[in-house]
Amino acid sequence: MSFRHTMSISLRCPLSLFAALLLMQSLADAQTSSDSFIHSRAAYYPNSDEKGTDKGACGFGSFGATINGGDVSAASDLYRNGVGCGACYQVRCTNTAYCSDKGVTVVITDQGSGDRTDFILSRRAFGRMAQTTDAAASLLALGVIDVEYRRVSCSYPNKNITIKIDENSNYPYYLAFVIWYQQGKKDITAVQLCETRNLVCKLLDRSYGAVWTTTSPPNGPLSLRMLLGDDEEGQEPWIIPINNIPQNWKAGETYDLGVQVDL
Ligand SMILES: *[C@@H]1O[C@H](CO)[C@@H](O)[C@H](O)[C@H]1NC(C)=O
Repeated sequence: MSFRHTMSISLRCPLSLFAALLLMQSLADAQTSSDSFIHSRAAYYPNSDEKGTDKGACGFGSFGATINGGDVSAASDLYRNGVGCGACYQVRCTNTAYCSDKGVTVVITDQGSGDRTDFILSRRAFGRMAQTTDAAASLLALGVIDVEYRRVSCSYPNKNITIKIDENSNYPYYLAFVIWYQQGKKDITAVQLCETRNLVCKLLDRSYGAVWTTTSPPNGPLSLRMLLGDDEEGQEPWIIPINNIPQNWKAGETYDLGVQVDL
């Protein structure tokens, strides 16, 4: 697939891109209803804070600890070499005496596995699978419990997709960042960085987790392109943000890209 070709079409025909996104969304909605739960096991972070960790393997920083009210989780196989970072799952435990039907929705912000577990939840998220506070105490006492899970859409009301420039970035030689607040239930499978003045783009590397890097970032104002893909559908839309990354981007800063998705 030619990136430059795709991009020029999208830029010239924003309306058809919009129509395509709407179509993708209704396809995604149709799929959601048929997704069934998968059996597994879950534990919770030992000796941890109530919420998640800002040192998670996804590299999300503070987002990884506080997002979704702290209902976050480490994943083992679902981490998928970092592609699974930021994915949302509904997890519910199966003990009918203690567990609610709804369970809890968590965001993957870390990697980890316990005794045949797919999830290591924050203590808060683990307790929230229970019907009552007493039941939560009983679940916590069990430590590892049977659960079932399914992937669900992430939802961040009133947030646009935002990039957080990693503290280790070194302007203008080395750029590393993570992407926060991506809604929906698709993975970001590729990211490219484009010079806005000539639309020359380069694909970035996923260095680990959700961290995208390049050792020679292009000059001038930059725009980002994000590919959403799950390998199941032939059509993979590139998300094209409205806002640029400023020419003098700074380590530690966050930049609102002015777009959101719900695919
Ligand atoms: C999201 O982006 C839109 C379009 O650029 C902007 O109007 C809006 O204020 C942004 N929303 C937030 C919550 O920043």
